[in-house]
Amino acid sequence: MRRDQEPHMSTLVIVGAQWGDEAKGKLVDVLGGDAEYVVRYSGGNNAGHTVIVEGETFKFQLLPAGILHPGTVSILGGGMVICPKHLLEEIDRTRAQRADLGELVVSPSAHIVFPYHRLLDQLEEEARGENKIGTTSRGIGPAYTDKVSRIGIRMGEFVQPDVFHRRLQEVLAVKNRLLRMFDHPEIKFDALHEEYAQYAVRIAPYVRDAEGMLQDAVDEGKRILFEGAQGTFLDLDYGTYPYVTSSHPIAGGACLGTGLGPRHIHNILGVAKAYTTRVGEGPFVTELHDAIGQQIRDQGHEYGTVTGRPRRCGWLDLVALRYSTRLNSLSGLVLTRLDTLRGIPELKVAVGYEIDGVRSRRMPSRVEEWAKAVPVYETLAGWDEDVSGIRRREDLPVSTQRYVSFIEEYLGIPAAVLSVGPDRAETIMVRPDLMWGQP
Ligand code: IMP
Repeated sequence: MRRDQEPHMSTLVIVGAQWGDEAKGKLVDVLGGDAEYVVRYSGGNNAGHTVIVEGETFKFQLLPAGILHPGTVSILGGGMVICPKHLLEEIDRTRAQRADLGELVVSPSAHIVFPYHRLLDQLEEEARGENKIGTTSRGIGPAYTDKVSRIGIRMGEFVQPDVFHRRLQEVLAVKNRLLRMFDHPEIKFDALHEEYAQYAVRIAPYVRDAEGMLQDAVDEGKRILFEGAQGTFLDLDYGTYPYVTSSHPIAGGACLGTGLGPRHIHNILGVAKAYTTRVGEGPFVTELHDAIGQQIRDQGHEYGTVTGRPRRCGWLDLVALRYSTRLNSLSGLVLTRLDTLRGIPELKVAVGYEIDGVRSRRMPSRVEEWAKAVPVYETLAGWDEDVSGIRRREDLPVSTQRYVSFIEEYLGIPAAVLSVGPDRAETIMVRPDLMWGQP
């Protein structure tokens, strides 16, 4: 293809439009069969995707959910931080469940998460005391810190034995100095090197030119699905800083984390729950501390996939979701968990925030303002029916249809998919044209 031609429109980004856990994994699995490439672009094993296929549950933290489709190439992009031990365990576990998996490619630019990152994650959280972030303790922040400080070890170096030996020696000396500051015993080089050199041997065959492969795929008009991790408001720059993760889960991160130019991104779908959840600390304007919050937690099994922590639950926050719609330039919305809201007579949705007596539809940018924000609610009718068996939008209860339409109107984008249950089949495809172009 000539560079001045319009690129073939066949790329789709799936992004978490809230604070993560929006059921992106399910959607990636539903669409993964249509994609030729499924690509993770940010984060590491702080993410947790659950996919249920014909009653069998698969849990992914590093592998793209597309791995379940044998004809699909799964790519771990250069924007990720990867724990090799965890990656190998996940490959082995998934292979034990399904013999026939898709091909896996790991970018040489992705950074490695070592045990000292996990240790520092915990020590730094303890040191923060009351101001702790509530991280997943997977070493994600410290691994990204090393990347930005330009002392991180990348996949391309990790799989070259002599380079890895030298780099680990250099970096561990620095890390041990840090551990001494925390009054923590040092990590011994020999044991760490021996263990990780073995992982490197097993991972080496997967490390290939992921960026070149993707660029070729774009030129050839292949269907590429970018699988976001975490969610928009955990974005390092545009989330509820400092209560965020250390990478870029937003749609723009798909370019940064894969080396693909912005002109190659076609459609962007934002996945949002029909209510709101958050794990860890930080602002949450529509949080519920009452029986309804508990009802949502119980009906939605809202406990973290990675840490098992109970998720904080609250009403749908349209102020936040509108910001997310704009920040990600969403083509459409994927509204999940409509089944979970069953049996709540009245549903509230936040349509504004009041801060110091001033009402606005804008998200605050500082934590102090968030703390003061009082939600302005609109009340909509709920539904009692079990919607999980419904496959067409027009067959949903009238109040569910009104709930969805209210959200579409407020956000100014259409609902592309409605999810009414965890299984692949429990999905209502409303606008297939917002995925890969005209069906
Ligand atoms: P970290 O990513 O482990 O550094 O954690 C930073 C914040 O992001 C914490 O509040 C975590 O609970 C949150 N977080 C990280 N990954 C996920 C995810 O996949 N889903 C939901 N929250 C997440």
